[in-house]
Amino acid sequence: MNLLVTAGATREPIDPVRYLTNRSSGKMGYALALAGQQLGHRVTLISGPTSLDIPSLVDFIPVETAKEMLEAVKLNIGAQDAAIFSAAVADYRPSFISDRKIKKTTDSLTLELVRNPDILGSARHQFKYDGILVGFAAETENLETNARTKLRQKECDLVVANDISKKGIGFDSDHNEVLLVYPEHTRPIPTESKERLAYTILRAVDDLRVEGG
Ligand code: C5P
Repeated sequence: MNLLVTAGATREPIDPVRYLTNRSSGKMGYALALAGQQLGHRVTLISGPTSLDIPSLVDFIPVETAKEMLEAVKLNIGAQDAAIFSAAVADYRPSFISDRKIKKTTDSLTLELVRNPDILGSARHQFKYDGILVGFAAETENLETNARTKLRQKECDLVVANDISKKGIGFDSDHNEVLLVYPEHTRPIPTESKERLAYTILRAVDDLRVEGG
């Protein structure tokens, strides 16, 4: 199948030397891309900057900002059988990007932020994508409820939910402990490496494709 994966954190510039980002390492998305490729799928990996090796034999599309990621998804999603959105997209970006380095001339500085596009939310609603759609939810509270709300609002087939308040799993870790949240049920997955979890998620995607006919 054709598989699209978004990965990594986006980087939202403030001026030529500074940017806003988050702690996502991109490991989960890269593990998904690699596992997909090893299972014989044609993988398109759209990624924000990371320090990871780019898996060979995947179509790699590097991006920096959420807006660039949205454009890359828009161009590529039509050809996909499954799309997994694991990128940690910055929810906000500076409303203004200074073309010169901002100097420290004042005691305080206010940055105005504006909402970034919701890329996962655009898949069904804007791009009319009708393949398998998988989102991620990183939450510090009400994990299952919040994931299920996301699943409904963004019309996902599956949301992979992880509790980022737990130490040693999730963000920037090699392991993760997640819930697979489906419209009608939830399947807890015990802690495992992101490599193994990638195979678990891809098996779940395959099952969804079989169920969907
Ligand atoms: O709403 P929240 O950011 O928690 O949703 C997380 C899910 O939505 C992830 O799958 C993430 O990749 C995706 N997302 C996105 N575009 C955004 C924000 C999140 O694709 N602007």
